[in-house]
Amino acid sequence: MPSQLLSDRILEIGFSKIREVMGKVEAAKRKGIAVTDLSIGRPDFDTPGHIKEAAAKALAEGKVHYTASAGTLELREALCHRFQEDYQLKIDPAEILVTTGAAEAIFIGLMSVLNPGDEVLVPEPMYVYYPGYASFGGAKCVPIPLQEENQFLLKADYLEKFITEKTKVLILNSPHNPTGQVFLQEDLEPIARLARRHNILVVSDDIYNGMLYDGVEHFPIAKAPGMKERTLIIGSFSKTYAMDGWRIGYLIAPGEVITQALKLHQHIVSCPNTFVQVGAQAALTAPQDCVRQMAAEFDRRRKALMARLDGIGLPYVRPRGAFYVFPSIKKFGLTSARFADFLLEKARTAVVPGDAFGPQGEGYVRISYCAPVEEIEKGMDRVRSALAQL
Ligand SMILES: Cc1ncc(COP(=O)(O)O)c(C=O)c1O
Repeated sequence: MPSQLLSDRILEIGFSKIREVMGKVEAAKRKGIAVTDLSIGRPDFDTPGHIKEAAAKALAEGKVHYTASAGTLELREALCHRFQEDYQLKIDPAEILVTTGAAEAIFIGLMSVLNPGDEVLVPEPMYVYYPGYASFGGAKCVPIPLQEENQFLLKADYLEKFITEKTKVLILNSPHNPTGQVFLQEDLEPIARLARRHNILVVSDDIYNGMLYDGVEHFPIAKAPGMKERTLIIGSFSKTYAMDGWRIGYLIAPGEVITQALKLHQHIVSCPNTFVQVGAQAALTAPQDCVRQMAAEFDRRRKALMARLDGIGLPYVRPRGAFYVFPSIKKFGLTSARFADFLLEKARTAVVPGDAFGPQGEGYVRISYCAPVEEIEKGMDRVRSALAQL
């Protein structure tokens, strides 16, 4: 088919470079090569049993038909309860849309507020799909380079330099993929003041908020004065409850945004999957021990990985959330793509090249600790031997 028949909009966006790494890992495995996969960005745990049982029961009971487009009232009420309990944040069910993962929540949220010519500020390195979402909305993604020497954190005075009269949205992601950093209340409050002063909306992608270490706490920016009415909270069950394949997440936003986003949501999915919503409700209403247990295990792996990195002498900013470390590989003089290929070939260990997260990620690789400690240690020992050859 002649490519002129394709839309400019679709040709503008690209594929995820993380998926390219997955392809290489698959190809190696097909050749019978055992690879330690530290490239994946999803928990390797099974979904907790009580969640699976609730969904299986719903299926057995015939909960197989459409629900309300916004998601069942029971699930939205369970979300309100969790936000109240975890963050003392009062949310109304009318401010929630249950979506097909956080991916859909970001998409419909942004499509509901962006106009052609708008600018979307995003700290870089950034989650791979943000530029594509902005482009779909006809907007320009404006990266804000995060610096290793500033712990990859964002400060309001630095952010202000990137604001123009076209700035409509600031996307924040904390805990952060790929650096594992957590934006703290002391930095978020001045950022919130800026957002109010310049009339900017904040999309707060909080999907890793269940994974925090070293005693740091998640501060939802919507809690800052005057921010609830200008914040779109993006949430997901994917990471917190090891439910990435279930495809369920949510958008929490001011009622006006939800009303408009609901139209697009109806156009593309009608409603979220029915029995998956029952599983998600069970996840929220049961005691949260499974979340704490998974986070404790991630913490053990984080420490094991940091010990190996220290041994190898790869510098990194100590991660405090999510399940990623973002070490610098600058001293080896290779591009991050070549470095990742080298590790896959010589150390049979897969990591993601930092440039997958934008040019600011060049000179780094993302290592995830979604694998058992022994596996991480074996893979990193091979990395050590391979790097000794460089
Ligand atoms: C920062 C960030 N936002 C959103 C998503 C999408 O998550 P979901 O599986 O809920 O669609 C991911 C997935 O890795 C992510 O890392």
